[in-house]
Amino acid sequence: MSKLAVLASGSGSNFEAMVHYFRQQATADIVLLLSDQPQAQCLNRAERLGVPAAAQRVRDFPDKDSYERWIRDTLLDSAVDMVVLAGYMRLCGPTLLQAFDHRILNIHPALLPSFPGKHAVEQALDYGVQVSGVTIHVVDEGMDTGPILYQEPVPVFAGDTPETLQKRIASVEHRMYPRVVEAYFQGEVTLKARRAIWKEEPTWDCGF
Ligand code: GAR
Repeated sequence: MSKLAVLASGSGSNFEAMVHYFRQQATADIVLLLSDQPQAQCLNRAERLGVPAAAQRVRDFPDKDSYERWIRDTLLDSAVDMVVLAGYMRLCGPTLLQAFDHRILNIHPALLPSFPGKHAVEQALDYGVQVSGVTIHVVDEGMDTGPILYQEPVPVFAGDTPETLQKRIASVEHRMYPRVVEAYFQGEVTLKARRAIWKEEPTWDCGF
């Protein structure tokens, strides 16, 4: 069974959805939650769900690479196969990217490459888009960049606030993120296959 770790900085609702999904499917085990925010709500969820968790502030390390070596070594100690970023609000540096080459996925609450960064939902609303969405992609050194595995549109309605739109987006995230992670580690959605799909059939429905 694949061993997954989740990295999160905030509320951890995607982490919780992932734990429930894989406990039911039994195709992967979420063995660890790591956070860069010792007060984050995701840590309370981990405790309630019985998932081992640890948190360290970047500023308590001499530099960012030492912090990242702590993350890498903790992941390797738990024999983690794949890393899932779920509201982890930091860039991954070379230490983590080299240790888990093409094995780190991220989710973002917009249709990338539009509105990368920490305030995607607010920025999409401010811009006046009528369709936003969810993107799941392989992580590289950029901010919310890297090859896209899955996108799903989410409508924006008149009168939406950041909270109402975030809630609509979150329900898509909770439904799709575990499924895409599972398809990826089972080799059902490879980057090569995705490119072939886009070449032949440019559609949002990629068959999950
Ligand atoms: C999610 O909406 C995720 O897409 C977003 O943070 C939220 C975390 O929610 N990530 C980013 O904005 C990455 N740039 P959660 O802590 O409840 O899972």
